[in-house]
Amino acid sequence: MKFFIDTANLDQIKEAQELGVLDGVTTNPSLMAKEGIGGAQNILDHYVKICNIVKGGDISAEVISTDFKGIVAEGEKLAALHPQIVVKVPMIKDGVKALKYFSDKGIKTNCTLVFSAGQALLAAKAGATYVSPFIGRLDDVSTSGLRLIEDIVTIYGNYGYETEVLAASIRHPMHIVDCAMAGADVVTCPLSAITALLNHPLTDVGLEKFLEDYRKVNS
Ligand code: E4P
Repeated sequence: MKFFIDTANLDQIKEAQELGVLDGVTTNPSLMAKEGIGGAQNILDHYVKICNIVKGGDISAEVISTDFKGIVAEGEKLAALHPQIVVKVPMIKDGVKALKYFSDKGIKTNCTLVFSAGQALLAAKAGATYVSPFIGRLDDVSTSGLRLIEDIVTIYGNYGYETEVLAASIRHPMHIVDCAMAGADVVTCPLSAITALLNHPLTDVGLEKFLEDYRKVNS
């Protein structure tokens, strides 16, 4: 399973990259705004900075247009920025048309804001490279996000769709483990959820004991 980090914060992206487990980055307009990145050129420059940190990984850059022509124009500009850019397109009617257009042109896409298996099926039929079901936001409204991941993995397996299931809106480390159990291809997570996977009290106790015993005969 691939690990993407869901942020536009360059320090966090560097930290995840240095950990050695980072396969890519997803951003969205809210995450860019959180970092204070505004203005068309600044936004484009920021995507290039991210690409230069994550060597070889896919970097999702989201369009803000909602009509076919606008999505295509924006997406082509984003894709031309850097070979690692994946055009992130919302799950709307013109978005689906644009997914098909980009797919025919060999431009990678990530279909975002997916909340149902039917939407995921449409994204796959349109040739999306990735589909992003938002599991945390579903959990927030008392609907199982994990169940959606399981359903999409089953449907894609039934028909051999190549679209990768990118579990998004991850909130905590168990979301990551559950998505791995369900067969998600990718998880995109905050850095805190990735580093939380490190923790176990028995690891801390065990390491302390090993070091203590070493010190007994080496001091
Ligand atoms: C996915 O690509 C989105 O950027 C993201 O996972 C949304 O997560 P949130 O629900 O934490 O905003």
